[in-house]
Amino acid sequence: MKQVQVKVRVPATTANLGPGFDCLGVALKLYNTITIKREVSDKTSSGMIRESADLFFKSIQQKPFSFSSAIQGDVPISRGLGSSVTLRAGVVVGLNRLAGEPLSQAECLNLVIQLEGHPDNAAPVFLGGFTVATDETILRVPVLPKLKFIAVIPEIEVETKKARKVLPKTLSFVDAVKSEKQAALIAAAFAAQKYELLENAFQDRLHQPYRKKLLPFLDKVIEAGVKAGALGGFLSGSGSTIICVSLSHEQNVARAMRKALKNISASMHILEVDNKGLLVS
Ligand code: HSE
Repeated sequence: MKQVQVKVRVPATTANLGPGFDCLGVALKLYNTITIKREVSDKTSSGMIRESADLFFKSIQQKPFSFSSAIQGDVPISRGLGSSVTLRAGVVVGLNRLAGEPLSQAECLNLVIQLEGHPDNAAPVFLGGFTVATDETILRVPVLPKLKFIAVIPEIEVETKKARKVLPKTLSFVDAVKSEKQAALIAAAFAAQKYELLENAFQDRLHQPYRKKLLPFLDKVIEAGVKAGALGGFLSGSGSTIICVSLSHEQNVARAMRKALKNISASMHILEVDNKGLLVS
């Protein structure tokens, strides 16, 4: 019998990790579940869902079928934790299952990267763990549970599109070299699972200095987390979430980060890495 309903559990993701702009990403144990159901007649769907479905049906060259979709979960919208990619990946992978899996996992991932415009959230969503994604290659390594990601999520929405508009068209050579060294160190530390090397590794001169205009408390929150025992911290994706990573004292780090935000409302999560990636049922 034809499957009529699919549930896709998709992890939240943090992208960039400071200087790994549009390249580095990590999947986190915080989830959205997207339910896709075959319907007899068309249900209205929003821009992002429609756009994902249109690209999927175009790429499989089959007649589109009607479906409805629903999203449930804990990944907050427009906070730099990959909520949009949870929806896009859920729609593409869900429709693919209902269509009899005409596309491979890698082909679904490519569609989602196309929809997103950059691969750094999409890669860990599909593969789990820590990922390095260039335009041609994706490399994934698992992350041990002893490394904690302490996320402070301010009640401030930041649209990625707007947060990309504040970035400069060109950078100084010095800033590019400094950032490239730091990004290489982060990738090496994750690959070797030597997380102590992440101390001071997240310094970035590619995007965070410019995005601070939108989130002026960024440095203070990271500094507070580091003072309380974190290895370092960064803006999660394009924000507004700020993450510190730590091998110890995570409760203290969380408290210190929260305190540094002063009277701005925020929620906190102490998260481990999801090493599985999205799950379909
Ligand atoms: N690399 C992207 C950016 C991630 O920083 O704009 C957005 O989540």
